[in-house]
Amino acid sequence: MPEASTPSGAAPAHTTPPSTTTTTGATIALEDLTKRYSGTPAPAVENVNMDIKAGELVVFVGPSGCGKTTTMKMINRLIEPTSGRIRIDDEDVTGIDPVRLRRKVGYAIQSSGLFPHMTVAQNIALVPKLIGWSKAKVKSRIEEMLDLVGLDAGEFQGRYPRQLSGGQQQRVGVARALAADPPVLLMDEPFGAVDPITRDHLQDELIRLQHELHKTIVFVTHDFDEAIKLGDRIAVLRERSHIAQFDTPEAILTNPADDFVSGFVGAGAALKRLNLTRVRDVEIVDFPTATIDDPLQYLFDMLRHGSTNEVLLLDRYRRPYKWLRRGDLMRAKGSLARAGTLVHDTVTRDATLRDALEAVLTDNAGRVAVTGRRGEYTGVVDMETLMNSVQQLLEEDRLEAVEHQHALLEQRAHQTRREQEGATAVRPEDLS
Ligand SMILES: Nc1ncnc2c1ncn2[C@@H]1O[C@H](COP(=O)(O)OP(=O)(O)OP(=O)(O)O)[C@@H](O)[C@H]1O
Ligand SMILES: [Mg+2]
Repeated sequence: MPEASTPSGAAPAHTTPPSTTTTTGATIALEDLTKRYSGTPAPAVENVNMDIKAGELVVFVGPSGCGKTTTMKMINRLIEPTSGRIRIDDEDVTGIDPVRLRRKVGYAIQSSGLFPHMTVAQNIALVPKLIGWSKAKVKSRIEEMLDLVGLDAGEFQGRYPRQLSGGQQQRVGVARALAADPPVLLMDEPFGAVDPITRDHLQDELIRLQHELHKTIVFVTHDFDEAIKLGDRIAVLRERSHIAQFDTPEAILTNPADDFVSGFVGAGAALKRLNLTRVRDVEIVDFPTATIDDPLQYLFDMLRHGSTNEVLLLDRYRRPYKWLRRGDLMRAKGSLARAGTLVHDTVTRDATLRDALEAVLTDNAGRVAVTGRRGEYTGVVDMETLMNSVQQLLEEDRLEAVEHQHALLEQRAHQTRREQEGATAVRPEDLS
């Protein structure tokens, strides 16, 4: 079983990095990578070329059987390539001892892949122990890793995998993959087996972790929304791992390379784009406000004489409380308790535009209050602002994608020219 051999094959290390420092990501280059399984006529992966930057999170998406897992497992040589090369941080690792390679590359898979007969602590300790870390260091590393993935070490380290929920198992799987502090992390549908809410949490946690750790992560998924949420870049793969498009989520959403990619993006690309922008990136406007401690007369004056026919009433902590229109106060006979409409939804500056749109659409006046860290009012986003922002975003994306394509074409032309020049140049051995 290739998966089971991840931690078990490692040998004692000559160097033992301290667990307190963190190794950041390495570059990965795949060069003409091909895999032909014996007994199958067509290659499962054919001539893949890809450069992944250090600290980048790259997502592979593509239909079932297109070669995602095979490509990924060739990176740590759980599957040996038939031909081609893999470089990690410029070191050609295609020929090195696979055990040494796997120390550079952590691996987490669907349904966690934990060893059922080992406790959480033993699972996490596997690779650090095998590469010769001291007992004390392994122990503190276990605690550090559990803390990192949001599990209480005291409570969880003695448990067996079957005594954990699916999401908790998944976290331990990630902790184990990170335990030996590898620069590269491979994740094959790691959140595929959990419910959508847990999955959402785990995704958020991965984003937070990556913010701290800056590993190079290759992440496989079937789910395009997951790819958009997590990926710095997405590789959309077709059969034999042929790259249909390899670009930022924004570029793929707004400028899919062909029908295959469009099909994968699915309906609602513009809506998906809203997930990539935060409320803080759009214009937040001021709205007339008053607080419940203001005298009623002040409110009357504001609504009667002011330029506005609506105010946002804030509570004692300046949190949005009620929308109050001219007329509301009259109808409620001057009673603030009865007047106006309660604010039922607010968004923070970190919310996505999709969240904001959801709130705006369910508000009968088409706007939502934006709040700060303690729930205090900071402004309002309305439908018009949202629409303008989205249109502007899409336009910018389109221009950027076009520029990007030009740059790629030029680069390719340049490369072809160089290859042609190289082919016609006289080599020393031709002269002898
Ligand atoms: N050990 C094997 N021997 C022969 N063929 C294999 C082997 N493993 C995978 N394949 C074939 O290689 C192709 C790519 O498989 P791979 O597992 O890489 O696909 P995948 O993109 O990860 O699919 P999924 O999304 O279903 O996980 C498939 O056609 C598969 O049947
Ligand atoms: Mg797979």
